Amino acid sequence: MNEITITKALTNHHNEMRDLIEEIKKDKSQYILLKKHLDVHHELEEDLLLRILNNNKDVKDESLESQEEHFVLNMLLLDLADFPKNNPRWMIKFKVFVEILEHHLSEEEEDLFPEAEEYLSEKQQKESGKQFQELKAQRLSAALETKPQESMH
Ligand SMILES: [Fe+2]
Repeated sequence: MNEITITKALTNHHNEMRDLIEEIKKDKSQYILLKKHLDVHHELEEDLLLRILNNNKDVKDESLESQEEHFVLNMLLLDLADFPKNNPRWMIKFKVFVEILEHHLSEEEEDLFPEAEEYLSEKQQKESGKQFQELKAQRLSAALETKPQESMH
């Protein structure tokens, strides 16, 4: 079913989240969806990609940087979840968060993923891609309490 590489699968998920960001700008109540997507995304990206890249001396710095950025983003996600949405500062906070997130996503897509594609074999990239698609569907459906999307097949 899935012949997608891990970096392509992660980039697709980045784009899904970029669409969600546009939704949230119109409707703040959608924020929780983005938080759930990012929680699942960070966890799987670290388990299926960064953990391997952290062992490669050429990619390690970039990979560890990505991991540290996840840490910062996770703190901001928690702050946004706690902060009252009816306070006008919420949207300002959200926009600052989006700037940092966008920087992070582009950096991964432009620097980290091309390096990962060089370092990992085609077979490894596809196996991790398949695992990502499966685990993402499972964990998101648990987090959102909905059925996995039919489009995954
Ligand atoms: Fe990512």
